[in-house]
Amino acid sequence: MNHTAMNHTANQPALELSQGVSIPMIGLGTWPLLGEEATDSVTRGIANGYRHIDTAHSYGNEEAIGEGIVRSGIDRSDLWVTSKLSLPGHSRAGAAEVYAQALERMGLDYLDLFLIHWPNPGHDGYVESCQGLQDLVDAGRLRAWGVSNFKPAHLDRVHAAGLRPALNQVQVDPAHLQSAQLRHHAARSIPTAAYSPLGRAGDFLKDPAITGPAATYSKTPAQIVLRWHLDSGRVAVPKSASDARQRENLDVFDFTLAPAELAAIDALDTGAGPRLDSDEYGH
Ligand SMILES: NC(=O)c1ccc[n+]([C@@H]2O[C@H](COP(=O)([O-])OP(=O)(O)OC[C@H]3O[C@@H](n4cnc5c(N)ncnc54)[C@H](OP(=O)(O)O)[C@@H]3O)[C@@H](O)[C@H]2O)c1
Repeated sequence: MNHTAMNHTANQPALELSQGVSIPMIGLGTWPLLGEEATDSVTRGIANGYRHIDTAHSYGNEEAIGEGIVRSGIDRSDLWVTSKLSLPGHSRAGAAEVYAQALERMGLDYLDLFLIHWPNPGHDGYVESCQGLQDLVDAGRLRAWGVSNFKPAHLDRVHAAGLRPALNQVQVDPAHLQSAQLRHHAARSIPTAAYSPLGRAGDFLKDPAITGPAATYSKTPAQIVLRWHLDSGRVAVPKSASDARQRENLDVFDFTLAPAELAAIDALDTGAGPRLDSDEYGH
């Protein structure tokens, strides 16, 4: 792995992470795509300009994503690849084992980012798992590690162990702003990556706080929401299997929203928590 050859952020905004790497701020989500559909989506996504792909062991598509990367013909060093570990990886040794298995499934020799998908607090292995991922980064086998669906209490335990995740990937959209969670990220200097960033095409796309700027900037409502994430400093991983919508979701780098426009979208927050409670759900 040659860190100096990494060039995947060319022409796209990137967020510098604490572990010394920069992540392209828009990535291509791949859940729930499987098999040939997943492969095709990734190959077209890369042709459409995506330089960041988001997958997970639990999606059951890591092999298909790896195949899509090969078919795209892109240089590995020009692409950011994130995957996520599930429960067998919730120990120091287990994290290294499941990392090797993920690489094998994807046909890659390193990942840019490996996340603990869910904290599974009942299992009580996530701090050990973070240590295992830090070992991999220290050994130069993984570029960065992070977490997903970690609540403030989980982040605090990781922090108390002296471990610093590169980011936390959580569900954020205009109706689910998760303000307390994001304030905790800010206090701990943990960047946020938004999953389901379009709220799975939520009703808020029809709200004037979003359709207004869409008219002003000649953009679609989805583009306004993605720009809102970027202007708020968040990475976002929208999923689209449609060629046109893949391109639409990446065409958000030529304008910015005004502070009042950002505040009006923030005000759409319902205060609702994420779909799944990570103290109860996990794998
Ligand atoms: N860490 C976690 O626990 C976790 C959990 C859930 C998801 N994720 C990741 O986050 C990614 C995205 O989340 P998500 O798939 O739940 O939700 P999303 O990206 O907010 O929404 C995807 C849905 O919106 C549609 N869509 C995409 N672009 C659009 C546009 N420009 N206009 C209108 N509709 C559009 C897609 O349909 P088409 O495909 O037909 O365009 C799809 O039905 C996932 O794929 C996965 O990689 C992570």
